[in-house]
Amino acid sequence: MLEQAKSLLEETKNFSAKSIEEVEAFRIKVLGSKGELKKLFAEFKSIPNEDKKEYGAVLNQLKEAAQDRVNELKAALADAVTSADDKMDLSRPVNAELGSRHPISIVKNQIIEIFNRIGYQISEGPEIEDDWHNFTALNFPPEHPARDMQDTFFVAKNPDMALRTHTSSVQVRVMENNQPPIRTISPGRVYRNEAISARAHCFFHQIEGLYIDKNVSFADLKQTLLYFAKEVFGEETKIRLRPSYFPFTEPSAEMDVSCSICSGKGCNVCKYTGFLEILGCGMVDPNVLENCGIDSKVYSGFAFGMGVERIAQLKYNVNDLRLYSENDKEFLSQFKAEI
Ligand code: PHE
Repeated sequence: MLEQAKSLLEETKNFSAKSIEEVEAFRIKVLGSKGELKKLFAEFKSIPNEDKKEYGAVLNQLKEAAQDRVNELKAALADAVTSADDKMDLSRPVNAELGSRHPISIVKNQIIEIFNRIGYQISEGPEIEDDWHNFTALNFPPEHPARDMQDTFFVAKNPDMALRTHTSSVQVRVMENNQPPIRTISPGRVYRNEAISARAHCFFHQIEGLYIDKNVSFADLKQTLLYFAKEVFGEETKIRLRPSYFPFTEPSAEMDVSCSICSGKGCNVCKYTGFLEILGCGMVDPNVLENCGIDSKVYSGFAFGMGVERIAQLKYNVNDLRLYSENDKEFLSQFKAEI
């Protein structure tokens, strides 16, 4: 028994712990109401008289040592926790700058909101697209120059796949999977193989719109776009439609808005024409409707597509497209006040 008490004393002196839980387990094992010390004290009567003195002394030492050790270790571990906490001063003012929304996101969200208000849903699709959705379904003849290597990034080893050159591809997907009435806008990133300069980039953002129903006319297109132009550039804005060509619309047009900088009087931004080109549009070609499983004798529709960078350029007077993708903090921080 004496030996047992002595070895427990030794163990106690050498005991160390990494957590409060370990210390507590040790306390219960040695000092607890069913612990070792209790058992050793209970053996006192069976100890030969001549050993009782030493045995009693060892037990007292053990009790004291165990209590001291437990207190010491608990205090040390609690200190360690507090000193880690000390490093985290929660009252210290935050020194990190808050970011701001990217101008492209701001303008994109505004445009989405304008069309949401008149019932347009949002549709999205893949950026790596097959030939059918990006070109063929949209009535691009096989020899059309837009399919050319100079404009399109094709996927190596698979000439059927390319980075989409416009989000009209998403509208094909919507038409294939839904019957009219369809009212949708497709925001997204698009890619074209162009040399990067102030006026062109190899990727940019588009928002394309599509409305298909019975009896949709060019007048509906015009009214929708006038509403849009006024919402973005102000109530005074005028629009102008010029005949144009797209394989997927017939008739097609390009839309100009009166220059918001000089109010149509003529300045260097509008090159003294008083108007700025902002989007392409037209009545969806019946071939496209048929390609997508929509009866062109029953339904008609219009489509339009615009570059978000172009709208942002006009709203914020940003004249170099490269600024949008350079992550320049000075540039981006100017949009902090916008939502
Ligand atoms: N898809 C055309 C483009 O990328 C824009 C457009 C959309 C034109 C819809 C007409 C109708 O330039």
